Amino acid sequence: MLSQIFVNIPAREQESYPISIDLGIFGNWPNWLKKHIQSRQLVILTDKKLLNPYIRQFKQQLLDAKINFIVISINGGESSKNQVTKEAIEMKMFRARIDRDALLLVIGGGVIGDLGGFVAATYMRGIKYIQVPTTLLAMVDSSVGGKTAINNEYGKNLIGAFWQPQAVAIDIKFLNTLPKQQLINGLIEVIKIFITCEKSSYDFVTNNFNKILAYDNEALLFIIQRAVSLKAEIVSQDEKEQNLRKYLNFGHTIGHALEKYYDFNILHGYAVALGIIVESKIAQIMGFLTQESYLSIVNLLQKLGIDCKDLHEIDAAKIIQYCLNDKKAKADKIYMIIIRQIGMVQNDKNSAVHEVPAKIIKRAFKQLF
Ligand SMILES: NC(=O)c1ccc[n+]([C@@H]2O[C@H](COP(=O)([O-])OP(=O)(O)OC[C@H]3O[C@@H](n4cnc5c(N)ncnc54)[C@H](O)[C@@H]3O)[C@@H](O)[C@H]2O)c1
Repeated sequence: MLSQIFVNIPAREQESYPISIDLGIFGNWPNWLKKHIQSRQLVILTDKKLLNPYIRQFKQQLLDAKINFIVISINGGESSKNQVTKEAIEMKMFRARIDRDALLLVIGGGVIGDLGGFVAATYMRGIKYIQVPTTLLAMVDSSVGGKTAINNEYGKNLIGAFWQPQAVAIDIKFLNTLPKQQLINGLIEVIKIFITCEKSSYDFVTNNFNKILAYDNEALLFIIQRAVSLKAEIVSQDEKEQNLRKYLNFGHTIGHALEKYYDFNILHGYAVALGIIVESKIAQIMGFLTQESYLSIVNLLQKLGIDCKDLHEIDAAKIIQYCLNDKKAKADKIYMIIIRQIGMVQNDKNSAVHEVPAKIIKRAFKQLF
């Protein structure tokens, strides 16, 4: 194993867990899994797209190791993250007489991870589960921190629970089959965490983005290890998002509004990238961020193919309205994470969240580069 990072949950020490990062844990999984399974029933929940390239081979390894299991596969993509799919999974588990001591092994991207985590949180009042993320986004973000959820007609992630996994196993070999657009989608969350928490890693991405986009293992391992370490540290200090964990919402207030503006016909990461650009401009207008840092961020995201031209055409009044409807708005006021410099968030009076007047948001859209 190349590295192991721990998420500590001080309030409930027994819920702390390791995140293993490797290039090929998958090749030796039965051994790795055995200590987690003990005498438990094993349920594998996965994405249909992963059956052929990975799960078939993995099933054979489990059979050879005489480990019993059932496999439930569903479609990846946001449209699966709902109550209907959740119930279908639970019914399959009941039919297979899965009991409350079972272990759920969730292998997939953020959709399967959030959905599987929520099944684990509620099945017979909660069973143990392990996250095996297979997209870059799931590796650096959704698999770490125990946020589980499904969507409904009122919005995204509105029904869910905090339910920490037993372990997270990140095998970057899964990225070999991940399409470039999905790699960039995850890379934007990596850049977000570096902009808020670690300038040296941000500089690494600016200097090595060509290698990252060419799926270079060394470069990928570096950014995954740093992003996971930073997220694990944040979750360890603030599991329930009272302060520090809110840093991770940088770019998301405008990003979520843009997702809605485009009627969700935009990948989440790409909407967040545009959100990062606008929220960085806001930080600059508010006098925290230098023009040079703002341009560095725009430049990096443009190199990843984020097309900012569309932002000039956007109806800022609509975006402001969507921001006001967001679950994070309070008493008709819009709040955001404001960066002070690359690698550092403005944190006043113990609060990282700042009220941003609508007129500054309008000005930011007008003054983008
Ligand atoms: N829980 C959290 O803290 C948290 C944080 C961020 C995002 N999220 C959630 O994550 C979800 C998005 O995650 P995602 O982008 O991973 O989506 P996803 O799970 O839908 O995966 C994206 C696409 O990649 C495919 N895929 C997965 N692994 C692959 C592989 N190894 N090779 C080839 N194709 C593969 C999937 O089938 C899908 O088409 C959203 O629902 C979002 O709300 C949760």
